[in-house]
Amino acid sequence: MKNFTKKQQGLSFDFIAPIYDLLASVASLGEIKRSRDALLPYLPNVKNCLIIGGGGGDVLEYLLKNKKAEKLFFIEVSPKMLYKAQKKLNKKMPQEANKVQFILADFTDFKNPITFDLIVANYFLDLFPEKESNNFVAQIRRMLAKDGLVLCADLYNSGYGFLKKQIFRFILFLIYKLFKFTSHLTNTELPPIPELFIKNNFKSLSSKYFFFGILRSDIWKK
Ligand SMILES: C[S@@+](CC[C@H](N)C(=O)[O-])C[C@H]1O[C@@H](n2cnc3c(N)ncnc32)[C@H](O)[C@@H]1O
Repeated sequence: MKNFTKKQQGLSFDFIAPIYDLLASVASLGEIKRSRDALLPYLPNVKNCLIIGGGGGDVLEYLLKNKKAEKLFFIEVSPKMLYKAQKKLNKKMPQEANKVQFILADFTDFKNPITFDLIVANYFLDLFPEKESNNFVAQIRRMLAKDGLVLCADLYNSGYGFLKKQIFRFILFLIYKLFKFTSHLTNTELPPIPELFIKNNFKSLSSKYFFFGILRSDIWKK
């Protein structure tokens, strides 16, 4: 396994890996899955796609089935999550498995040998404080080919309405507490994800909102 940066050394989704998808589905009444899937049909077919923190590999199946990428790179820091995604793929689409390169590594240390036409980063940036999250968005930009796209579904704080804000704060509190105990997550505040993409000169081509507007999915263009 690669060297881990000190900050992420403790963060591990291994413990929660077996139940992560079920938990996300039950807690969000299926809206997390819907937010991940909603913009997939609008993606063009590309040559190289990178999936960052791909978890159990939920979007892999769609991308392969619909020939959205000739070659896919799936980077995950949790061995159990990566194994789960690999196992699912080998079981459901063994004939497509050779199109996916699984990389067990911290994205921070990832040195890309090629540029990517599409990068998928679902429910990944919310794990980090604003500064680190911004560094990741900048890293994503550097790894993208000209006119490359990013698909990003994540938590979203619209900031509108007193009651909505309070409910959102409470939900966030519960989510971050859960991941603190199960995954040793140290972050406690949601970074302003859309603002970070805009700050890094991305343009949103399409946005959709889910679960009373607290989940947001975007396609960002470099
Ligand atoms: C909240 S889960 C989201 C999984 C999946 N993308 C989804 O939409 O359900 C975040 C994932 O990012 C992975 N992860 C966290 N930090 C990472 C890093 N620095 N490099 C690569 N993967 C990372 C975790 O192991 C975990 O599987």
